[in-house]
Amino acid sequence: MFSLATASLIGFSCLTAVTAAPFSFANNPLGNSFPAPNPSQLLDIERQAHGSIPIPFPAAPAAAHGPAADTITSLEFIAFNELFEVAFFTELIANITNNVPGYKFDTEIDTRDYILNALIAVQAQEELHAINANNAVKKFTGGVILPCQYNFPVSDIEQAIALASTFTDVVLGTLQDVVTLFGEDGDAALIRGVASVIGQEGEQNGFYRNLLNKIPSALPFLTASTRDFAFSAINQMFVVPGTCPNVTATHSDIDLTIFGTLNVLTQNIQPVAQTLTFSFGLPTGGPKPEWKSDYSGVQLVYINQQNAPTIEHLQNVRINGNTITFDAYFPFDQALFGNGLTIAAITEVFAFTDVDSIANHTIFGPGLIEIN
Ligand SMILES: *[C@@H]1O[C@H](CO)[C@@H](O)[C@H](O)[C@H]1NC(C)=O
Ligand SMILES: *[C@@H]1O[C@H](CO)[C@@H](O)[C@H](O)[C@H]1NC(C)=O
Ligand SMILES: *[C@@H]1O[C@H](CO)[C@@H](O)[C@H](O)[C@H]1NC(C)=O
Repeated sequence: MFSLATASLIGFSCLTAVTAAPFSFANNPLGNSFPAPNPSQLLDIERQAHGSIPIPFPAAPAAAHGPAADTITSLEFIAFNELFEVAFFTELIANITNNVPGYKFDTEIDTRDYILNALIAVQAQEELHAINANNAVKKFTGGVILPCQYNFPVSDIEQAIALASTFTDVVLGTLQDVVTLFGEDGDAALIRGVASVIGQEGEQNGFYRNLLNKIPSALPFLTASTRDFAFSAINQMFVVPGTCPNVTATHSDIDLTIFGTLNVLTQNIQPVAQTLTFSFGLPTGGPKPEWKSDYSGVQLVYINQQNAPTIEHLQNVRINGNTITFDAYFPFDQALFGNGLTIAAITEVFAFTDVDSIANHTIFGPGLIEIN
């Protein structure tokens, strides 16, 4: 067993910022016309993924009706998410393969090969997740979700694996939402396939956590998320604005909300009860009257594990032009609150019934906090 902490890497600490061009599928970085591979390219991807996209039972009964509109939104979201993941892993593999500073292994050839082999399988598996979701989107809408250009806020392998672990945690929470909505919307037939991907992404995250020298399984019950939180995070953190054919400034083919950004300013958050600092930018038109001038009309909500939310007041609010900075208590407790992923959001004051009702009343978010 090994982790990145024990592997020998060159150039880990003394990095200078490299301004890389955004990732674009237009340059055919996969060499296989992804996201629309031809049949023989698809077989190559399946070999690299160690398995196939689902092959339907020939005798399966045809669905009596098409899926609910909200189900199509979920399929479109999955395609949008998986396309970004393919971009991320393709760029990460290229960085390691090309010995980019920060991604260069010193002596441990076996370690480098093991990590590369695992990531190459992940990349192909994510390609199949994207293609499978888009096949369904195509069947039900006639169109597919097209990729955007992306930038990733990382410049060494440890940051990249930590980011992969965080966005995988968000996906693992969001697919809980997707299967719940499939059930609620009468599309239970789609649950099994997505549930198989939840386990698959969990296997990936155990690997990332191992590389980060963490225990592989983070929590007894993984943190809940929603489609709107995940869609917001991808658009806020990774998408180059204006490069998504299906999500423009004025129109989205995917019927989800992009919230205002909530920045978590405190770095390297330790597992202790503490005060954290956050910020957000005011929207055009400024604050809403109901937020109140001291922001007592809004609250900070933390979602952690499968627990009822923890709600905190905004303290020490500082207003600097359009930037609002504030502090809030983070009541970490090893048994009860704060391990693994915590999602923070600024919401209206409301009596929440579940995680979807939190997202429905969110103004700024998600702030992503990872502990352990
Ligand atoms: C790849 O390396 C470049 C240059 O350091 C960096 O800008 C980019 O974010 C890296 N991408 C990943 C996925 O690690
Ligand atoms: C995505 O955008 C493309 C290009 O505008 C369009 O042809 C396609 O129908 C859109 N997909 C969906 C699902 O709306
Ligand atoms: C959230 O809002 C959507 C769209 O308005 C609605 O369909 C859904 O029932 C709401 N969910 C909850 C839990 O409030």
